[in-house]
Amino acid sequence: MQIKVGIIGGTGLDNNRELIEQRTEIVIDTAYGSVPVIEGVISGVNCVLLARHGKSHNVMPSNVNYRGNIMALKILGCTHVIATTATGSLKQEIAPGSIVILNDAIDRTKNRVSTFYDGSDLFPGVCHLPMSPLMDEKTRQIIIDTAKELGIEVFKDGTAVCIEGPRFSTKAESNMFRSWGCDLVNMTIVPEVVLAKEQGLLYASIAMATDYDCWRENTDGRVCVEEVMATFKNNVEKVTKIILGVIPNIAKLDWTETIQDLNSLITGSVMLPDQ
Ligand code: ADE
Repeated sequence: MQIKVGIIGGTGLDNNRELIEQRTEIVIDTAYGSVPVIEGVISGVNCVLLARHGKSHNVMPSNVNYRGNIMALKILGCTHVIATTATGSLKQEIAPGSIVILNDAIDRTKNRVSTFYDGSDLFPGVCHLPMSPLMDEKTRQIIIDTAKELGIEVFKDGTAVCIEGPRFSTKAESNMFRSWGCDLVNMTIVPEVVLAKEQGLLYASIAMATDYDCWRENTDGRVCVEEVMATFKNNVEKVTKIILGVIPNIAKLDWTETIQDLNSLITGSVMLPDQ
């Protein structure tokens, strides 16, 4: 089966147009609003580039059009989503600049629609989709193996707590997340990963630690946007290299069964109203 990869660029990677060849800028009309994307090709594989926070990073995490973004990728025929995300580190060993291939999350968001099955006619029924495993394991493994091939060090798993934002955490919150065993804190992984799964898209996320959040003693303990952006800029090349290596490696495998399995999971998770 033919694959197509949606690449969701987070903070620092939202304008990385160099990633993709034969670029065409288009706007996809979805039931959730219009979504600008760039279609193109990476190593002969069809890809779609989407800036999560808008082209000029002017959409805050709570206002990201998560459903529109995922639906645009679905309409364009994507089979996979590789997302990038800036995160705060909650562990000493995950120094700023480190890359973590996320495998789990804790949801602390408050104001986001996190399902397509919201009672509308578009997606009838109630969808109780299992969230373990959260990401597509096969895609995650390809990312880990590709980074190894390229000699780029990554943490092979990590749990991110997703906060509502746009403010950063308090020290008490940051320490609570650490006590929960979280490795990273970010503002966007939920509901993006959930919505992608509902649409049968194989999703994996490359997280970059951009700061130590505010839990560390004997530091001024502040996170600032400037630091987040500077760390991302200095390390963006690593993320770009991994993505460029991952796409052809995804294309080498047959995904028919993986996609069928996910679709069966979705069908089995939707409770339809009595006819
Ligand atoms: N994104 C980057 N750094 C972050 C932090 N410390 N908290 C939440 N989201 C972030």
